[in-house]
Amino acid sequence: MANWKFVLFCMFVILGTNNVLVSGANDDRKVHIIYMGSLPKEDYSLASHHLNMLQQVIDDDFAENFLVRSYKRSFNGFAANLTDKEAEKIGRMEGVVSVFESKKLELYTTRSWDFLGIPETTKETSAIESDMIIGVLDSGIWPESDSFNDEGFGPAPKKWKGTCAGGKNFTCNNKIIGARYYNNFTSYSSARDSSGHGSHTASTAAGNKVKGTSFFGIAEGTARGGVPSARIAVYQVCDVLACGDAQILAGFDDAIVDGVDLITISLGSDYVTNFTEDSIAIGSFHAMEKGILTLQAVGNSGPNKRSTSSLAPWLFSVAASSTDRRIIDKVSLGNGVTLTGQSVNTFTPNGTKIPLIVGENASKPDCSDLKDYCLPDCLDPTKVEGKIVLCASQIGVQTGFKSGAFGSIIQNDVHFNFVPPYPAIGLDTEPYNLALKYANSTTSPQAEILRSETIIDTNAPSPTDFSSRGPNVILPEIMKPDISAPGLEILAAYSPLGLISGVIGDKRSSKYVILSGTSMACPHVAGVAAYVKSFHPDWSPAAIKSSIMTTSTPMKGTEDKEYAYGSGNVNPVKAINPGLIFDLSKDDYVNLLCNIGYDTSKIRKVSGDNSTCPSLTPQRSAVNDFNYPALAFHAQPNQPFVVNFTRTVTNVGFANSTYKVSVPTSSDLNVTVVPQVISFKSLNEKQSFVVNVVGGKFPQESVVSSSLEWTDGTHNVRSPIVVDVSQPEEPEE
Ligand SMILES: *[C@@H]1O[C@H](CO)[C@@H](O)[C@H](O)[C@H]1NC(C)=O
Ligand SMILES: *[C@@H]1O[C@H](CO)[C@@H](O)[C@H](O)[C@H]1NC(C)=O
Ligand SMILES: *[C@@H]1O[C@H](CO)[C@@H](O)[C@H](O)[C@H]1NC(C)=O
Ligand SMILES: *[C@@H]1O[C@H](CO)[C@@H](O)[C@H](O)[C@H]1NC(C)=O
Ligand SMILES: *[C@@H]1O[C@H](CO)[C@@H](O)[C@H](O)[C@H]1NC(C)=O
Ligand SMILES: *[C@@H]1O[C@H](CO)[C@@H](O)[C@H](O)[C@H]1NC(C)=O
Ligand SMILES: *[C@@H]1O[C@H](CO)[C@@H](O)[C@H](O)[C@H]1NC(C)=O
Ligand SMILES: *[C@@H]1O[C@H](CO)[C@@H](O)[C@H](O)[C@H]1NC(C)=O
Ligand SMILES: *[C@@H]1O[C@H](CO)[C@@H](O)[C@H](O)[C@H]1NC(C)=O
Ligand SMILES: *[C@@H]1O[C@H](CO)[C@@H](O)[C@H](O)[C@H]1NC(C)=O
Ligand SMILES: *[C@@H]1O[C@H](CO)[C@@H](O)[C@H](O)[C@H]1NC(C)=O
Repeated sequence: MANWKFVLFCMFVILGTNNVLVSGANDDRKVHIIYMGSLPKEDYSLASHHLNMLQQVIDDDFAENFLVRSYKRSFNGFAANLTDKEAEKIGRMEGVVSVFESKKLELYTTRSWDFLGIPETTKETSAIESDMIIGVLDSGIWPESDSFNDEGFGPAPKKWKGTCAGGKNFTCNNKIIGARYYNNFTSYSSARDSSGHGSHTASTAAGNKVKGTSFFGIAEGTARGGVPSARIAVYQVCDVLACGDAQILAGFDDAIVDGVDLITISLGSDYVTNFTEDSIAIGSFHAMEKGILTLQAVGNSGPNKRSTSSLAPWLFSVAASSTDRRIIDKVSLGNGVTLTGQSVNTFTPNGTKIPLIVGENASKPDCSDLKDYCLPDCLDPTKVEGKIVLCASQIGVQTGFKSGAFGSIIQNDVHFNFVPPYPAIGLDTEPYNLALKYANSTTSPQAEILRSETIIDTNAPSPTDFSSRGPNVILPEIMKPDISAPGLEILAAYSPLGLISGVIGDKRSSKYVILSGTSMACPHVAGVAAYVKSFHPDWSPAAIKSSIMTTSTPMKGTEDKEYAYGSGNVNPVKAINPGLIFDLSKDDYVNLLCNIGYDTSKIRKVSGDNSTCPSLTPQRSAVNDFNYPALAFHAQPNQPFVVNFTRTVTNVGFANSTYKVSVPTSSDLNVTVVPQVISFKSLNEKQSFVVNVVGGKFPQESVVSSSLEWTDGTHNVRSPIVVDVSQPEEPEE
């Protein structure tokens, strides 16, 4: 039941718990993915091969009716409507890497760019930047938005091989150069965005500068994406509510060969799956093979530890931070006390105080004992009508609105700033209890919820409570999240069809909307990655990721440390000139899979070549030497530990340069680096070093961290070192 407390009512950013895959053999057909690794070298018709495989397991003359989709442009596989038995049979066939049910994944629902250091006046429109193509896998786009106007844009870059197949009444232009969709709903078959989420993320990454935007007068300013001159390619893999694995794989299959420079995907699941059964891990692996970096939001299931499912080492996993422009709201109680809280409340009161009622006293008699939570169908409309209702759960905004209340005051401990459909405010536990006490202290309590205002937050950037946390439950040696970027109260383009508060019945519509979530953070980093790639078109995905991680601004402010915010907050200006990079190739990732125990025959299918594991037995300790830009480690509680990490850096700064290492004095970890000085005589020269980390006894569930930084006087190359001290629970089967 405690879950109710944390249920966010905004559907794009809902902390869902309803994704549990129920397995158990039965005859129902469900869409399954049959993943078969890389495209074969031999040139044969994959679609007929897929059909042939289906015919062998389906006892029906029309096996083609069960083939949902073939993947054959960037990797090999298909989606089919199968019973569990058929799925199991097909899983044993030659060439199959994995078979899994197509599950539903969730969308993780102007000032931010100035805050990050690309001021509005920057002349960033280079010829190369306008050649950048960002692939957005999301809910589609609203092509008529000012953010996607193509005035001043030339034709699509020559490398573009995609198409505009956005469906009926969907026109591309020189800004939105491609569109595809993979959902055929009954009434709505096009890449047009009906929820608003996809327009918001696309415009945050690459939207035009649009002056004078605001959300009903709040947060007025210029809305713009990270790389306003970049192009957008739209892959609609979600319907209004959710996104299927089968559609996500179709989006990757197309985007990779269409010629996008990078892929941003602000959605995911709140459970962890093996890399070979995870559509985003599979799609992004094949993107990486082709030099395309994929960025994924880590999810909104924080502050729970181990809550992110964005775990593959080739993914760039983005957490959400705050910016210096915050939106607050206030409520003035009848006793003269004013309490400050959160909400993006656009409603202006008229000066008359409104009667208050507590949820407990407003519920129907037959409701559960959690009356103060205002659970669905529990509020009595005759009791709340014309009143402001106090609820101990965030669901109270939705249920109060639906029951005809005037407004809501809710308890909101996760500090998630929401857009309410009517006057509402979220309060921390302490002020909430004050309001409750006041409501209980007088026979006719009253309050007035004020319109939201903006303030400057000097603590920014700070981690957000809702951003999902590491460590990485599959590979603790690979730090997750990787990076932080603004994800709180972000103003960006929207769909006029989208519900701006996520609450059905809210009739307002707006071209620009304020949303919070890691969904909003991910496209910020996609914009930065495109910016870096426009300066270094030949860099590998790992090099771009390394440059953004090692130049990020250090953060603090939570006991989860790097497991909340990654290496730090993204810094676009420094990222284009990192000095040194930690590079990785496809072979490095393949060796990593070998060392964590994936079987050689599967790895061969995935990688599409005859790469074999260097050692017949997995070498788990070798994972410490995987050339990641961050150093992470798992230690047992109350046991001292010693661990060595080997790393290799590539010089991309000055040809002739000397770097010295420094480590902050930390009482927690003793860090020694050998050698302490590395010198380069040429560009692209590589040098290796070993980091020795010694730690004492730490209690269960602690996080200890430090860092090391190489500097040549111009560049600072920082890698965090983070240790998760825990006794992991046995995985549930
Ligand atoms: C799969 O088959 C079932 C009937 O067994 C049907 O109800 C369902 O619509 C099919 N799904 C797809 C995507 O074809
Ligand atoms: C196409 O979509 C736009 C935007 O929703 C709408 O204004 C227009 O009427 C539509 N045209 C047709 C022919 O449906
Ligand atoms: C949608 O359905 C139509 C008619 O069945 C079909 O022609 C079209 O290819 C489908 N589009 C997609 C994107 O699946
Ligand atoms: C102010 O708003 C309340 C609630 O809608 C309404 O009952 C009241 O008449 C209004 N007062 C004035 C002076 O407009
Ligand atoms: C309300 O007041 C009554 C009596 O003063 C007290 O017994 C009760 O615990 C109070 N309830 C709350 C929620 O403060
Ligand atoms: C709920 O109603 C009862 C009875 O009218 C009253 O005594 C109590 O104080 C109310 N509780 C709150 C928290 O207002
Ligand atoms: C995940 O993969 C590993 C290594 O291949 C395997 O041992 C494990 O059983 C898999 N887990 C699931 C849930 O499939
Ligand atoms: C393995 O791959 C290498 C490099 O691609 C190639 O030269 C070699 O012939 C391949 N060997 C086999 C047995 O396929
Ligand atoms: C770890 O590094 C230290 C210092 O460089 C070295 O003395 C030690 O032998 C190394 N240990 C292992 C297991 O490689
Ligand atoms: C490199 O730097 C060293 C030391 O500063 C200097 O002696 C040498 O001439 C430099 N070489 C080049 C090619 O600039
Ligand atoms: C770290 O170094 C200090 C100073 O040399 C020493 O007192 C301490 O015991 C060391 N800690 C560990 C965990 O080895």
